[in-house]
Amino acid sequence: MSDVIAVYPGSFDPLTNGHVDIIQRGTRFFDRIVIAVLLNIEKAPLFTVPERVSIAREVFREWPTVEVDTFDGLLVDYARRKKATVIVRGLRAVSDFEFEMQRALMNRRLNQDVETVFMMPAEPYTYVSSRLVKEVAALGGSVQGLVPEVVEARLREKKAAQHSMRA
Ligand code: PNS
Repeated sequence: MSDVIAVYPGSFDPLTNGHVDIIQRGTRFFDRIVIAVLLNIEKAPLFTVPERVSIAREVFREWPTVEVDTFDGLLVDYARRKKATVIVRGLRAVSDFEFEMQRALMNRRLNQDVETVFMMPAEPYTYVSSRLVKEVAALGGSVQGLVPEVVEARLREKKAAQHSMRA
């Protein structure tokens, strides 16, 4: 039987412990997981794509079955190129469901050979999102325990850089 390869796509601006939890859970079921950072058109990301890639590589440097890559265009086309048969998405709450279901069904329509698998993060991360992490960190609050240490450090650097630019 051939290896089961999963793609875990997202913006990861920045990677949170919720993402890390999903990826680690996924390594138990998939032979390989590709963290696929969207080369996005988002107007004002906090971290550049190379920064997000380097953070993910650092966090998973000791996980041999986890790869970090970037993608653009249709996710299902990228999955095909990577020979992935699974798209992993995390579901934190019912509020995530509707949007994720639409994406999953659209992706299935575009490519029948790729199945979306939803995974729930550990309870302490069910309210954690990149957006909230950025907001709290920008306003000087603590995000300790919600993001990997490297992300905490980089958030501090970003805040200091923005502060010195304003001074
Ligand atoms: O972390 P995010 O921002 O929720 O991730 C969104 C992502 C990357 C999963 C989504 O933007 C995506 O799949 N983009 C690829 C474009 C695509 O394939 N669209 C059509 C299928 S719905």
